[in-house]
Amino acid sequence: MAYKLESPTLQRQVVAFLTFFCVGCAVSETLKYSIPEEMEIGSFVANIVEDLRLDIKQLSTRRARITSESSTQYFQLNINSGELVIKEKIDREELCEQILLCTLYFEFVLENPVQFHRAEVQIQDINDNPPIFPMKQLLLKIHEMSPLKTRFPLKRALDLDIGVNHVQNYTVNLNEHFQLDVHNGSDGSKYAELVLENQLDREEQSEVNLILTAVDGGMPPKSGTAQIKILVLDANDNFPQFSQSVYKVQLMENSAQNSLVSRVEATDKDQGSFAEITYSFNQVSDKVLKLFKLNQSTGEISVWGSIDFEETRMHEIDIQATDGGGLSAHSKVLVEVLDANDNSPEIIITSIISPVPEDSLPGTVIALFSVRDRDFKENGETVCSMETNTPFLLKSSFKNYYLLVTEVSLDREKVSEYNITITVMDCGFPSLTSQETIRVQISDINDNPPLFNQHSYSIYVNENNNPFLLIGTVNAVDLDCERNAEITYYLLPGFAGEDPVDSYVSINSEDGNLYALQSLDYENIRDFWVIVRATDGGSPSLSSNVSVHFYINDENDNSPIILYPLQDSTSLSSDLVSRSADAGYLVTKVVAVDGDSGQNAWLSYQLQKSTEPSLFTVAQHNGEIRTTRLITERDAMKQKLDIVVRDNGKPSLSTTTTLHLLLVDGFSEPYIQLQNIHNEAAKDSKLTVYLVISLALISFVFLVSVVVVVFKIIKTKTSQEQCVSTSGNFYEDSKFQNNVLDITGTGTLSQTYRYEVCLTTESDNSEFKFLRPLLPNFIDRNGTIEVNSETKSNSQTLANSLDHLDPATEPSNK
Ligand SMILES: *[C@@H]1O[C@H](CO)[C@@H](O)[C@H](O)[C@H]1NC(C)=O
Ligand SMILES: *[C@@H]1O[C@H](CO)[C@@H](O)[C@H](O)[C@H]1NC(C)=O
Repeated sequence: MAYKLESPTLQRQVVAFLTFFCVGCAVSETLKYSIPEEMEIGSFVANIVEDLRLDIKQLSTRRARITSESSTQYFQLNINSGELVIKEKIDREELCEQILLCTLYFEFVLENPVQFHRAEVQIQDINDNPPIFPMKQLLLKIHEMSPLKTRFPLKRALDLDIGVNHVQNYTVNLNEHFQLDVHNGSDGSKYAELVLENQLDREEQSEVNLILTAVDGGMPPKSGTAQIKILVLDANDNFPQFSQSVYKVQLMENSAQNSLVSRVEATDKDQGSFAEITYSFNQVSDKVLKLFKLNQSTGEISVWGSIDFEETRMHEIDIQATDGGGLSAHSKVLVEVLDANDNSPEIIITSIISPVPEDSLPGTVIALFSVRDRDFKENGETVCSMETNTPFLLKSSFKNYYLLVTEVSLDREKVSEYNITITVMDCGFPSLTSQETIRVQISDINDNPPLFNQHSYSIYVNENNNPFLLIGTVNAVDLDCERNAEITYYLLPGFAGEDPVDSYVSINSEDGNLYALQSLDYENIRDFWVIVRATDGGSPSLSSNVSVHFYINDENDNSPIILYPLQDSTSLSSDLVSRSADAGYLVTKVVAVDGDSGQNAWLSYQLQKSTEPSLFTVAQHNGEIRTTRLITERDAMKQKLDIVVRDNGKPSLSTTTTLHLLLVDGFSEPYIQLQNIHNEAAKDSKLTVYLVISLALISFVFLVSVVVVVFKIIKTKTSQEQCVSTSGNFYEDSKFQNNVLDITGTGTLSQTYRYEVCLTTESDNSEFKFLRPLLPNFIDRNGTIEVNSETKSNSQTLANSLDHLDPATEPSNK
């Protein structure tokens, strides 16, 4: 069987060796062959017969065979053809590893004769093994800050093949950081280094993956790859970075402690501790330190102190972030504090004018004040108001300044003091208010005159008072105060009768008490009036007048005075009575008056003693003396009657008079006496005419008066019941009533006078003579009439005073 060489090249090789051996040796030639490894079993290696030029037949006869010392027989000899073929697959790498010349030895042996040939088979390497990296992955840790051109040797790739089939080159895939530099090692093998060509940045690319390829020189070349994993090691090459360069936040004032204000955040691209950020305040004011707290690790800023808008509206906080490598960055937090309505408005009173005179004109400035609210905007806007119903007004002069002025005129006498409450309110929500009270006192102006508490005063004084007796008081009130209300009383000059009033009364200038200055006499002066003026102490002062009427009350201090019969010591009056007079004949009439008035002047007559007690009676009320029976012969010619005249005072006063009567014959008719009077009067006819006319007139007037008064008395009787009851017995007698009624209000005197004129028929002319001047004589204060309770002396002096009027009359006091 012929084996064909697999390739022409290999065939030529084998041939060349044979040629060399054949030429060099004769007997014991060495056969040299060269074959590639990995030939298939049975593959032709050489034809030994041909090479040794042997007869093929000899092979079997001479028992040709090949022997080898090695355990494995790689070759086999085909005895029939003499061809040497592969018996076992030859793996050079297994056989020789990296030995460059790999040779298998065997001997070719022939017997008969023994023939011995040595044979060498050189095993040629073929590229049957790829380069192999011992590890599929190479891990490199490279610092990111490594300088350029730094070399990083790489592990070599293994290739079992040798020579040119061994690793001839390394490549790495294209990348931006590294290049591969391939060198020849001292043993001739190649190795590669990674060269850093571009700066690494872990933050950009923390890991670089490369494919390293080793290529051998075989035809075709084989290659093996490994992955290069480059871990870029971190350097603190990055500064922390805040998410914002300025953080703007708003914070409500008075925020609670620990409430979050803001959170700053810085990041660091580095790794590990280089990326660990610590926050801190950077050069902040003490105030910020007191107000805010910074969490070092989280960057949270929270409230620590009390945030007050009014103190600071904006806080600027510099924050520093530092990483573990000491690199730092800065940021700013601007905290805008928002206003809360936490300040009450304030009222600042600049000035108060108090007291204010009550006559201040409307518009007078009382107080000036300003209003302040420390809050902001509407929280700080204020509204000022005042209670109404005061005579004051608020005026805003300019912003937040107010004037309190009077709106209307004031009157201290109505309101002397005002507490004006001013309320100020801000416009916040909820709004805050405050109040201030302005106390305004009104000072007095003398605008009120003293006022008497009565329009006029009536003061009743009993006569015969003690001098310097307190008889009354007047009182005036002044609504003003202090000096303006200090009242001084005095009497205005005036006259009471003919005397100046200040001879009667005086007034205490301070308290208005009125004192009598003398003992008053009703019979002298019955009433008078003064004007009291009250003046206050103001400047100018004001005053007012009041009239004070003094009424003097009568006391029973005058005894009745007998007008007829005349009480004269020098002459005895005697009336003539005709013995032929009838019973009831009006003999005469006792005429008496009383200086007092009223009851004190109501007189009653009583017969006290008489010569002939049964002959005469005296009418109790009118003093008429009448006969009670016919006069007899036995009756003495001279009759003497003692008559007591009493007034009705308490105690009553009395006067006794004695009446002498002569009982005469032939003087029977009263008209004869009257005729005599007429005759006498005829001497002066003119006088008589006047007298008659006067009598008629006076009678008529008297009658009319009586009628009118009686009518009036009856009408007023009911209203004067008390008076009537005490004096009832007098009123019952209408005759007496006529006598005592005080028609003109001046007592009984004039009444008595008229009565006399009208009714006395038996009096002579002399009565008219003395009656006329008698009336003023009572009133005359200068007279010697001393008001005295003693009847005797009283009558005496009265009689004395009457003396000069009619020397013919004679007093009879007993
Ligand atoms: C005003 O206030 C003062 C002090 O509080 C008080 O004494 C006075 O009586 C008050 N006046 C009036 C009129 O209320
Ligand atoms: C008081 O009376 C006097 C004298 O009559 C008079 O001049 C004065 O004007 C009066 N004064 C008053 C306030 O009535």
